[in-house]
Amino acid sequence: MLQDKIAIVTGASRGIGRAIAETFARAGASVVICGRTQETLDRVAAELGPAAGGILPVACHVGRAGDIARLVEQTHSAFGRVDILVNNAGTNVAWGPALEIDEERFDKMIDINLKSAFRMIQAVAPGMCQRGSGSIVNIASIAGLRPLANSMVYNVTKAALIMMTQSYALELGPKGVRVNAIAPGFVETALSEHYWKGEDRRRQLVERQPIRHLGQPAEIAEMALLLASDRGSYITGQTMVVDGGRMVS
Ligand SMILES: NC(=O)c1ccc[n+]([C@@H]2O[C@H](COP(=O)([O-])OP(=O)(O)OC[C@H]3O[C@@H](n4cnc5c(N)ncnc54)[C@H](OP(=O)(O)O)[C@@H]3O)[C@@H](O)[C@H]2O)c1
Repeated sequence: MLQDKIAIVTGASRGIGRAIAETFARAGASVVICGRTQETLDRVAAELGPAAGGILPVACHVGRAGDIARLVEQTHSAFGRVDILVNNAGTNVAWGPALEIDEERFDKMIDINLKSAFRMIQAVAPGMCQRGSGSIVNIASIAGLRPLANSMVYNVTKAALIMMTQSYALELGPKGVRVNAIAPGFVETALSEHYWKGEDRRRQLVERQPIRHLGQPAEIAEMALLLASDRGSYITGQTMVVDGGRMVS
């Protein structure tokens, strides 16, 4: 489905980003993966090695403009262009009561969860527009649609990412570039461990949703593949909820 495509997936050293990188590579894409440490990425690239298409690991802190510029430069010098961008890297360092959050953590969350997507899109989309094709996928969250307790800043960054998705979609659509978001529900990764770790917690969590298992990174990757590929050619500006039915429960 992604034969000869060049993709960048941020935050691909583990969890959802890693699953997306693997799925894209198996679908035939060359995938540039990023995370903060080169060593970790090299290990991931070696583990995913047999996947078709090939993986290029490039260390990049998505909260830093210089790192993003280097990531895009290295992608261009290795492959000459970017067809698919997945803004997946994200964090929740501001977990806790809203009134206890200081400005430093607020700014960090904005930089990593939101401004990173702006920087990546500003760097990559002009080339896509010039070629008249491209697909951008932003990994938001159901927390951007309905607030999660003790996660005020996280919720805000994800809601803003959804609006950023719609705004770019409006402008870039006529130039052949589609921009969509995915809003996962609870997925079994390090980020959401607090919610599902332990048998009781896990059972309570899945009992509150129609699909009675905890989401797996590969289930999010399938949606990313649809949006990234030509099979999603009539989809733009959307937020695809992949949450086991949690939002309707
Ligand atoms: N898990 C869920 O339940 C869930 C639900 C809804 C939405 N999401 C969203 O899905 C995305 C992926 O989350 P996940 O659950 O897969 O989390 P995860 O397992 O903690 O993975 C996060 C990834 O982001 C990278 N990352 C973190 N900070 C970074 C930075 N400053 N620069 C570059 N990379 C950075 C991490 O790499 P390094 O640590 O190696 O740098 C890692 O590869 C996030 O945007 C998250 O908000 C997750």
